[in-house]
Amino acid sequence: MARTILVTAALPYASGEIHLGNLLEMVQTDIWVRYQRLAGADCAFVCATDAHGTPTMLRAREEGVEPADYAESCRAAHLRDFEAFGIRFDNYYTTHSPENRQLVERIYGRLKERGHIRTRTIQQAYDEQAGMFLPDRYVRGECPSCGAADQYGDSCSACGATYTPSELANPRSILSGLPPVTRQSEHKFFKLGEFESPLKTWMRASNLDRGARNKLAEWFKEGLKDWDITRDEPYFGFEVPGEKGKYFYVWLDAPVGYMASFMNLCGAGKDGEDRFERYFGADSNTELYHFIGKDILYFHTLFWPAVLMGAGIRAPTGVFVHGFLTVNGQKMSKSRGTFITAADYAGAGLDPEHLRYYYAAKLGPGLDDIDLQLEDFAARINSDLVGKLVNIASRCASFIERGFKGQLGPALHDPALYEEFASAREGIGQFYESRQYGKAMRAIMALADRANVWINERKPWELARNPEKQDELQAVATQGINLFRVLMTYMAPVLPRISSDAEKFLRARLSWESIGAPLLSERIEKFKPLAGRMAVKKLKVLVEAGRGEAGAPEQVEPIEIDEFLRAELRVARITKAERVAGADRLLRLTLDDGGKGRTVFAGIAGAYAPSILVGRKVVLVANLKPRKMRFGVSEGMILAAGEGDSRVFLLSPDEGAEPGMRVR
Ligand code: MSP
Ligand code: ZN
Repeated sequence: MARTILVTAALPYASGEIHLGNLLEMVQTDIWVRYQRLAGADCAFVCATDAHGTPTMLRAREEGVEPADYAESCRAAHLRDFEAFGIRFDNYYTTHSPENRQLVERIYGRLKERGHIRTRTIQQAYDEQAGMFLPDRYVRGECPSCGAADQYGDSCSACGATYTPSELANPRSILSGLPPVTRQSEHKFFKLGEFESPLKTWMRASNLDRGARNKLAEWFKEGLKDWDITRDEPYFGFEVPGEKGKYFYVWLDAPVGYMASFMNLCGAGKDGEDRFERYFGADSNTELYHFIGKDILYFHTLFWPAVLMGAGIRAPTGVFVHGFLTVNGQKMSKSRGTFITAADYAGAGLDPEHLRYYYAAKLGPGLDDIDLQLEDFAARINSDLVGKLVNIASRCASFIERGFKGQLGPALHDPALYEEFASAREGIGQFYESRQYGKAMRAIMALADRANVWINERKPWELARNPEKQDELQAVATQGINLFRVLMTYMAPVLPRISSDAEKFLRARLSWESIGAPLLSERIEKFKPLAGRMAVKKLKVLVEAGRGEAGAPEQVEPIEIDEFLRAELRVARITKAERVAGADRLLRLTLDDGGKGRTVFAGIAGAYAPSILVGRKVVLVANLKPRKMRFGVSEGMILAAGEGDSRVFLLSPDEGAEPGMRVR
């Protein structure tokens, strides 16, 4: 019986732009889904935008729109990006949906009924100027463990320690820059610890890679703690029934969003309900797999299955975890220009199919990081995809076209070789199934090498000059085209656009089944190039264009003190801050400089919401020559530390400094 499978990829945050890292996951998932379908399974693929949470709320506020509208516009942008990369969802929905609200309420209701929820009062960082409780990541300070400066409130990027924001030394709210105060609030907690034993059973039975199992074993050893599943207003999310001003934490409703997206796909009415029940009923025998990155393992292998168990819903069959994408050996970074968005990539005229191939060539089933090495990327595309694979078709097609009016011969030249290619199907299928795509690509390319060698040995270009060898020529070219067809079928999960063009060229559908018999005596279309070479130059331009101004400290040239003193630095107060239409990074700041005031444009929109800047004192370079910009004249500059667009830190004087005061 055909397998019935539901697959999900992690739901991208609404507030983020889709980048090459997100695409790694989507491509990995999409390849798996396409393979399953090619092999005859009934496989659905759903995803959604993760709409809720503080970042969405703040971004929407900055843009002056409702959070729901903002999330919806992000959803549309995400979908457009993914479609450009051939990701074929059955549904790309949103977590801010009626289905999700209904499911979250149902699940929470059951957890409460069954005693899995408790109420606790907690102390939390609160920003008095912004008027809200601060998520851990909105507090920065010095690591309590190693002292590293400027770390997030939940973990240290220098030593890896995890802690709570209250443990940071010199904590600051990233919203106002002020030290947060501590306030009390009552929250709902999910008693995760009660699920230790069923989770262990689930872990053993489920399809989890060794790396993920090891991580889980560590967490079990540390002990499972209660999980805080509510947040105080202001918050963008679903209000907790019966708890005024309290919202479900985004991470509670986000995985439920998988189910909600599928429910939406099933549709209302009896048939839809039945279908949904068949997948999520307690005794379901359908398979459910989540593809995720290693950073969200805890949520998917502890919280999520436990919540499902607690609510009496089936748990996932497997969670497939991948590592992180690095570019040229390093974390993607805005200042190095390697934070490349999907839109940047496609906009630079680079072929999405090339990226899909490269990812496939590098992906394995484990948690290892994947490096996108620009030179290597171009070399692989040009040597494998263009040089080996597509080359088989292009060199044989011209003989069929010119000598035989596009007609394939009635027999193969070497049926045994064809048989060998066709019988690689099981092995390659197994590689796809177990997410060993790198191995699948190597097996396919090894066959492509053999096909090219075989053609070389038959010397069709010599046969073409000999009128007595025309039948042989047709058989050789027919063989080549058929080998290409088999290989293209194997590549179809990875290269949807190229394989669909190949179908047009062959005038035949590619399927796992049709590999069984060769294509003979049929007419094929005129060959058009299926894939272009890749210019590494284009890639480099892409990286250059994205590079921010600031980077690591470099060697600096010493200057004399009077050179420095020529800069006139003064204290100023921001009296107004506005976004600039058409310039995402810029804010227009109106400053009280102790004199008649002035306007300055600052590239800090990626790091500061305009509303929280008003009233703040800054350091102004007061004697810069006014600079005409597209949006107006900038009369000076304000000082900030940082790198890239989002890690920006305005310099402010201590209490007491007044606008106009000189800085020395
Ligand atoms: N919204 C959550 C997921 C909720 S799932 C119920 C989230 N969103 S995310 O936008 O930050 O990340 C989406 C997915 O992209 C995650 O699986 C994450 O691991 C993955 N990646 C984000 N950056 C990545 C790389 N640099 N490399 C590979 N995958 C990366 O987490
Ligand atoms: Zn540290």
